[in-house]
Amino acid sequence: PTIYAITPTYSRPVQKAELTRLANTFRQVAQLHWIVVEDAAARSELVSRFLARAGLPSTHLHVPTPRRYKRPGLPRATEQRNAGLAWLRQRHQHLLLHQRAQPGVLFFADDDNTYSLELFQEMRTTRKVSVWPVGLVGGRRYERPLVKNGRVVGWYTGWRADRPFAIDMAGFAVSLQVILSNPKAVFKRRGSQPGMQESDFLKQITTVEELEPKANNCTKVLVWHTRTEKVNLANEPKYHLDTVKIEV
Ligand code: UGA
Ligand code: MN
Repeated sequence: PTIYAITPTYSRPVQKAELTRLANTFRQVAQLHWIVVEDAAARSELVSRFLARAGLPSTHLHVPTPRRYKRPGLPRATEQRNAGLAWLRQRHQHLLLHQRAQPGVLFFADDDNTYSLELFQEMRTTRKVSVWPVGLVGGRRYERPLVKNGRVVGWYTGWRADRPFAIDMAGFAVSLQVILSNPKAVFKRRGSQPGMQESDFLKQITTVEELEPKANNCTKVLVWHTRTEKVNLANEPKYHLDTVKIEV
C-alpha cells in the first residue's frame, strides 16, 4: 500500500529546515505520497519550490486557519488535516466507484517531529487503525498504548489519562479504506478541548478494542514529538543589508 503522510505547515524562520529534515526521511520510504497543507491563504513560493525539488511524490494544498482560532491553548492544524482528508477522499472516490480501490495507509506527520524509517515498515501493514508509542510527549520520555494479549487495554501517559485515546497525533495510522468508508470523520473545532483532537477523531472511526498495536506490542519508540526551539533573530537588521537576494 501507498503511505500518505499529511503534513500541516506554516510560515516561520525554521519552516524550510523542518521540511528539509522531513523530506530527507520521506525520500527514503518506498511508495510514500506527501500531502503538504500550508496554513495560508495561498500556496507559498517557498514551499512550492521546495516540493518541486524534494524528489518525492507530493501534493501541495493550502487552507488558512481562521484568525479566531489562532490562539494559544486552541488546537492547531485542524483545517489543514481536514483539507488533506478531503483531498484523499476526492482522489479515491472514483476509483472506489469502479471497484478499483487502491490500498493505502494514512498518517499525520507534523513538520517538527522526528520519524525513524522503521516506523513506515510498521504502519504499512495497518489493516484498520494501528498505534505505537511516541517519544518525548505528555511530560514523559514517552507515551504508549498498554498491550495485553495483542490488544490495547489502556494507556501509559503522564497527561490527561482520562482521554479515550491517550495518544499523540504522531502515534497512529489509518487505512485508506477506513477513511473512505467513514466519509464524515473529520477533525472538529467545536467541542474539542485541548489535547482531545486525536480522541475526537479516532472515536469516529474505531474503538480501543479494535486498535492494532505495532512496534513490538508498543514497546519501541519509533517517532519522537520533538519541538524546535524558537530562533533568536535579535541581530537581524531592520532593513535588507545583504547585497544579493538569499533563498533561506
Ligand atoms: C501537539 C500535537 O503533537 C499536534 O499534533 C497538535 O496539533 C498540537 O499539539 C495542537 O495543539 O493542536 P505541538 O508540537 O504542540 O503539537 O504543535 P505544533 O508542532 O506547533 O503544531 C502541529 C502542526 O500544526 C505542525 O505541523 C505545524 O506546522 C502546524 N501548525 C501549527 C499550523 O499549520 N499552523 C499553526 O499556526 C501552528
Ligand atoms: Mn510539534
